[in-house]
Amino acid sequence: MNKKILVAGGAGFIGVNFIKYMLNENPDNKIINFDALTYAGNLASLASCENNPNYEFVHGDIRNAEDVAEAIKKYNVDSIINFAAESHVDRSIDGPHVFLDTNIFGTYTLLQAARDFDIQRYLQVSTDEVYGSLGKTGLFTESTTIKPNSPYSASKASADHMVRAWHKTYGLNAVITRCSNNYGAYQFPEKMIPLCIYNARNGNKIPVYGDGMQIRDWLYVYDHCTAIWEVFSRAIPGEVFNIGGNNEKTNLTLVNAILAMLGKPKSLIQFVKDRPGHDRRYAIDSSKMKERLGWEPSLTFEEGIEKTIRWYIDNQNWLNQVTSGDYQNYYKQMYADR
Ligand code: NAD
Ligand code: DAU
Repeated sequence: MNKKILVAGGAGFIGVNFIKYMLNENPDNKIINFDALTYAGNLASLASCENNPNYEFVHGDIRNAEDVAEAIKKYNVDSIINFAAESHVDRSIDGPHVFLDTNIFGTYTLLQAARDFDIQRYLQVSTDEVYGSLGKTGLFTESTTIKPNSPYSASKASADHMVRAWHKTYGLNAVITRCSNNYGAYQFPEKMIPLCIYNARNGNKIPVYGDGMQIRDWLYVYDHCTAIWEVFSRAIPGEVFNIGGNNEKTNLTLVNAILAMLGKPKSLIQFVKDRPGHDRRYAIDSSKMKERLGWEPSLTFEEGIEKTIRWYIDNQNWLNQVTSGDYQNYYKQMYADR
């Protein structure tokens, strides 16, 4: 395809997996990883890519128009995929400002740059959380009303609205993906699955919010990456695609499964105060992905979670590095009096 793609937020969990997928499986394209390296960005995760001639790293902030313009000009970028965001719901409840700044203003900056530099394709990586919460039945489709409930999801929904407006008003060739919960290698252990693995292996309690009966639809991160590439390559300008794992689990079922696989007792579970505004259930209808683009998840949950647990066991150094320093303060602040 020979695209020169600026991957914003490429040093985060999904960005790292996407860059590895692209360099390994779609090597005709040049990847420019543009990342501010916040607490969630980690270049060590991409050490194996450093010498790849199709990979460049730019330390830059999507809120800074000059940073973005410089990278686009330097590498003659023709496409943008935007993963860059503040992504953790609990942090957005404690401190919404940076979420609005990065997720809304940062997206605006990228959209303006896309106009200024005649970018041929813009893909916004969004989330199923923009749809809010489901009751016991039903699925999110692409035409479900946008009804975000957290500062994080409100900021992501705002960004989606701008992407739509830039397509309608300025004719930008923009598309949006809305995916369910991802899991896999390189996920920061503030998120439920790596937090559970990390705590359980250390014999520490697993904090489960409220009654633990909230439902998420889990997708292995590799499958999210292949879906993004299908949408990038083939969607009609302006289209939205939902991406999901067809794999609903209550948080309690999930934690019990991980504890069983690690050979750890259920007594490690500790019910703690619920997350304010906690969405009860997410579930995605990905039939458009299947019918229009022939995409389906390639791994079962059992295969994905086994690979994930194995990765965290085999990559103790990575885990030690990201849980040193600030992480310990974050953990105390979030959970000590919960
Ligand atoms: P993450 O928090 O692991 O990574 C975010 C990355 O963005 C980090 O590398 C960080 O340094 C970078 N970043 C943050 N602010 C920046 C800025 N101002 N300029 C440049 N870079 C900046 O997030 P993730 O879990 O990999 O999620 C990636 C994207 O996918 C996000 O947009 C998120 O909303 C979306 N998403 C995530 C999930 C999930 O389950 N993790 C599911 C659906 C959608
Ligand atoms: O649905 C997609 C979204 O999934 C993405 O847009 C977000 O970026 C991503 O963070 C994720 O959001 P969640 O809030 O669903 O993920 P998290 O891992 O934080 O929590 C998963 C579920 O587990 C949720 O119901 C809250 C619960 N939970 C989480 C933590 C961290 C607990 O019970 N205890 C915990 O300690």
